[in-house]
Amino acid sequence: MITTTGLTKVYQSRGREVTALDGVDLHVREGEVYGVIGQSGAGKSSLIRCVNLLERPTAGTVTVAGQDLTALAGRGRRAGKELREARSRIGMVFQHFNLLASRTVQGNIELPLEILGVSGQARTRKALELLDLVGLADKAKSYPGQLSGGQKQRVGIARALAGEPKVLLSDEATSALDPETTRSILQLLRDLNQELGLTVLLITHEMDVVKTICDSAALMRNGRVVESGTVTGLLATPGSELAHELFPVGGTASGPDRTVVDVTFHGEAAARPVISQLSRTYNIDISILGAAMDTVGGNQIGRMRIELPGRFEENVVPIGFLREQGLQAEVVDGEPAGPAGIPAQTPAPHSKEVAK
Ligand SMILES: Nc1ncnc2c1ncn2[C@@H]1O[C@H](COP(=O)(O)OP(=O)(O)OP(=O)(O)O)[C@@H](O)[C@H]1O
Ligand SMILES: [Mg+2]
Repeated sequence: MITTTGLTKVYQSRGREVTALDGVDLHVREGEVYGVIGQSGAGKSSLIRCVNLLERPTAGTVTVAGQDLTALAGRGRRAGKELREARSRIGMVFQHFNLLASRTVQGNIELPLEILGVSGQARTRKALELLDLVGLADKAKSYPGQLSGGQKQRVGIARALAGEPKVLLSDEATSALDPETTRSILQLLRDLNQELGLTVLLITHEMDVVKTICDSAALMRNGRVVESGTVTGLLATPGSELAHELFPVGGTASGPDRTVVDVTFHGEAAARPVISQLSRTYNIDISILGAAMDTVGGNQIGRMRIELPGRFEENVVPIGFLREQGLQAEVVDGEPAGPAGIPAQTPAPHSKEVAK
């Protein structure tokens, strides 16, 4: 639904060049909620503004619903007719809502429809229908100043949906909200995604947002995507930074002759007593150093950091047992052997290597 290739944005700022995007390839599938996460300055807002051509990329292409937006003329307020039309099919939600204080809630939602030239009656009908959809049917005549933050964001979302977009872009839509309101807005986005088949590309700096509603995620750093994929795929990827941040399991080895393994449980494997089976089968004492369990995209996923006595070489078989059980086992400490069983020359203290 959204594809960017080699997307690059260089700002000219006081005679200096700032590279905000440095060759971003993004692939968002139809009907998914895709989260882009990264620290301040990573280039997240630049990315979203380039995706709907509010900013003209310095290089690269943006394709939304099969249409190459970068081939259309103009940008921002000076966008040509074709680009304006294409943009009206991309909804945008902002961190600070960007509502007009002088217009009623209904008036705010009608605004994009006025710009599209929709007649008065049809506008009203559409606005009231959208207010109902976001759970604010009784606030049509209120002004933004009379609403809570969460209600304002619901209006922002209704307005974004006025042009019946296939794609919704959200830049930190919940950053200005308290945790409980955040949850309700995320739930609304998820419902809209499922009921309307809306593809959602959202920007956040909170891992919790990714965990709660995203099917896929990308991690940005210094204008680049350093990791991306489906959340479940990332959790099954050895050494994935996002997986470690989604499920931080602390704990370090209690002594030198120990192997520390991160075990990831998916679906039904989460319910099986694998650790006690491992202990019984190989007659070894297992210490649990840390654990986290959560629901990701409706699936139960758990992560556990365990410690086995002995070094990696002595634990190849028990680790193999875990993998046979359909679990992912990643050795995080214990001087694992290098490829083909050759011990690594300079074993890093926390090198990550998958048990083969
Ligand atoms: N209009 C601009 N002119 C010059 N530099 C800019 C402009 N917009 C952004 N930048 C720079 O580009 C880089 C990326 O900024 P961007 O706003 O995309 O980051 P972000 O990931 O959204 O950060 P935040 O989490 O703080 O919103 C930063 O170094 C920023 O200073
Ligand atoms: Mg930003």
